[in-house]
Amino acid sequence: MYASPLGNFPIDEFLSDYWQKKPLLLRNALPDIASPVSAELLAGLACEEDVESRIIIQHENDWELLQGPFNEDAFTTLPKSHWTLLVQAVDHWMPEATKFLQQFNFIPRWRIDDLMMSYASDGGGVGPHFDNYDVFLVQTEGKRKWEIGGLCSDDSELVENLPVSILRNFNAQESWILEPGDMLYVPPGFAHNGVAQGDHCITCSVGFRAPSHSEIVREYSDYISEHLSESLRYQDPDDIVQINTGEISRNTIDEIKKILSNYMEDQTLISDWFGRYITTPKYHEEAEDVSIKKNTSSFETKKLKKYLESENSIFRNESSRFAFQIFDENVHLYVDGKCIDTTCESSQDKIECITGLCENIEFSKISFPQTEDNFLLLARLLESGALYLNEE
Ligand code: SIN
Ligand code: CO
Repeated sequence: MYASPLGNFPIDEFLSDYWQKKPLLLRNALPDIASPVSAELLAGLACEEDVESRIIIQHENDWELLQGPFNEDAFTTLPKSHWTLLVQAVDHWMPEATKFLQQFNFIPRWRIDDLMMSYASDGGGVGPHFDNYDVFLVQTEGKRKWEIGGLCSDDSELVENLPVSILRNFNAQESWILEPGDMLYVPPGFAHNGVAQGDHCITCSVGFRAPSHSEIVREYSDYISEHLSESLRYQDPDDIVQINTGEISRNTIDEIKKILSNYMEDQTLISDWFGRYITTPKYHEEAEDVSIKKNTSSFETKKLKKYLESENSIFRNESSRFAFQIFDENVHLYVDGKCIDTTCESSQDKIECITGLCENIEFSKISFPQTEDNFLLLARLLESGALYLNEE
């Protein structure tokens, strides 16, 4: 169990009165906070090919955006102040950052996108803006002044011709200076502006995912169409007689509506699509197909048993996404965009293993009932790379 990242603030009150509704400042929410990743390691990550990073520099009223990866020289040529380095998805690369995110498991895990970390020099920030998702802004080192404005929308005017999205009109309604351990929650759409007060300002942003309606409709349609046979075709309604041959009749549209609603209301299809879609890795490198290999050799499960017997742990790949759901009286395990396992709801041992895999990031022999079936599942996930052993 992890301590609540809201400090003494009751989680149920936060969820009913603030979550997705209004900003909340929590002083000393995480009193013993340490940056999950140091400034040096963050700079190192920003030099890595696969890591998404940027540097934003403010020059008076102009803004400059540099995209990573950077080489080490980039950091020596920066101005004295008014710049910030931002590294996305630190939790995908650093187990300490993954652990940090576990504190936020009071929100369904699939809603969490990533942990972004920023390192700013005095005056550094990304300017007044709004995000389309919820964010917890945790101050871990140095100080940052946060200002909160009103609700924005797609109609809110942005400053033109800038490489970053900056609100043209930002009216701060409240402002605070956050120190290490303080946290600010900002719901989607609220204008906010964070400015480092002094050098060495590190802020951790826990960002959430809220797929747009457009993305949901597009992705679901793609999923359905991939599974449909070309022989399934439009058929005329019983009454095809019409006065004017050029007309598209109301009956025709009703038939089309029937085809569409057939798929749009199919609970099984929707559930299966969503499990796959929402566990697709953030960075789309093709995950290996673990579902193909139904049977891992007994040697591997034997080796795994021995490994766990010697008090070793198994870890979840930091960039893998796990989720389960229950439908048709079965529990379905989704990992990295694939349905890995389905098991009957009455198979308690397996369910304990699946729910544990989706909730935790480290497993020992006591983390799950030691049945053959569970060892086989773990062996398959190890083989796919969604789990790993610490000896590797
Ligand atoms: C930052 O860490 O500077 C920016 C975070 C945000 O505004 O969402
Ligand atoms: Co923001």
